[in-house]
Amino acid sequence: MMRIDAEAAQEAAAQADAGFLWDFWYPAARSTEIRGSKLVTAMLLEVPLVLGRTSEGKVFAMRDSCPHRGIPLSYGRLDGNVVECCYHGWRFEACSGQCVEIPSLTSQDKLKVERIFAGHYPCEERDGYVWVYMNAPGTKLAETIPAAPALNVFSDKYKITHLSCELPSHVDQGIIGLMDPAHGPFVHRSWFWRKRASIHAKEKKFEPIPNGFRMSPHSPSTNSAPYQLLKKITGEPVTTTIDFVLPNLRTEEDRSGKLWFSSRATVTPVRRDLCRIDFVAAWNLFFLPVTIFRMFGKTFLRQDQETMIRQAEGLKHNPRLMLIDDADRPAKWYFALKANLMESRRTGGPMVHPMDGPVTLRWRS
Ligand code: FES
Ligand SMILES: [Fe+2]
Repeated sequence: MMRIDAEAAQEAAAQADAGFLWDFWYPAARSTEIRGSKLVTAMLLEVPLVLGRTSEGKVFAMRDSCPHRGIPLSYGRLDGNVVECCYHGWRFEACSGQCVEIPSLTSQDKLKVERIFAGHYPCEERDGYVWVYMNAPGTKLAETIPAAPALNVFSDKYKITHLSCELPSHVDQGIIGLMDPAHGPFVHRSWFWRKRASIHAKEKKFEPIPNGFRMSPHSPSTNSAPYQLLKKITGEPVTTTIDFVLPNLRTEEDRSGKLWFSSRATVTPVRRDLCRIDFVAAWNLFFLPVTIFRMFGKTFLRQDQETMIRQAEGLKHNPRLMLIDDADRPAKWYFALKANLMESRRTGGPMVHPMDGPVTLRWRS
């Protein structure tokens, strides 16, 4: 048997400058898409994946490539907890990737089948997503990996809904678009949210948190109707906490008395020129039906998506860009966090946080 290690090395080199953050969990698909003995394809960080569910209901993620001759395993079939390749019928245990059978072998053959592995990744279900832990190509999976992210909820009963949209951009553009406070009055102008004329000066406190930063708990802007409504109903102040954490998570929690709303947006790199926003929200606000929320949410996402499609048009020509203070400071923190994390992984030293304490930022939006 010949192991083609050069392939892994080549792949690592090709992906090295794509600006992806490896060794993190990323959402690959919705749980509901993975059912029966269907094999489903997905792509994360330019790695083709095949996802499925074993007969015991456990989700798995394998590299969508047979280690024999590279044909996508997704053309094969799932049989209980074994994936069978469509080309020569090699069979792999789906969760571990271990080869369990090579039909062409005779009793004379000495090949140790159990030493052959198809590429596979840790895979978990949370909040209606199938998460895949993407360890860097050509590296061994760490012995302990963190738990997959979970959305915070604050009561037993709640509503939950999911939205997603693709952006034709590098994940970095998607992320800084997501945390950009200054585009609201221009991109998200609508009768139900706010008018352009409502633009006013804001002042928000930020603090460092591990691998990210937090917009410290505050009362949300007075020019957004939904927050005013919430305050009117509970008679208690609304507090909002917004976190950004590497590699790509933005969470927001709004609480007022017993009522709460919690959401998470992730921007996941599919390829270097394509990313996807996955948005999940949960709440116990009795007056907010899922259908209404989805209508507003879709409008918001579409507004962002249309803007990013236009931006991609401009970015094709490699323009020089600028980040200004204070409105673009979160974007600067993101780039610094990412660079410092990569540096600490390279050197094995501790990660330097780009913020040395709480900061107040001011902008108009
Ligand atoms: S290519 Fe998959 S078994 Fe040969
Ligand atoms: Fe937006």
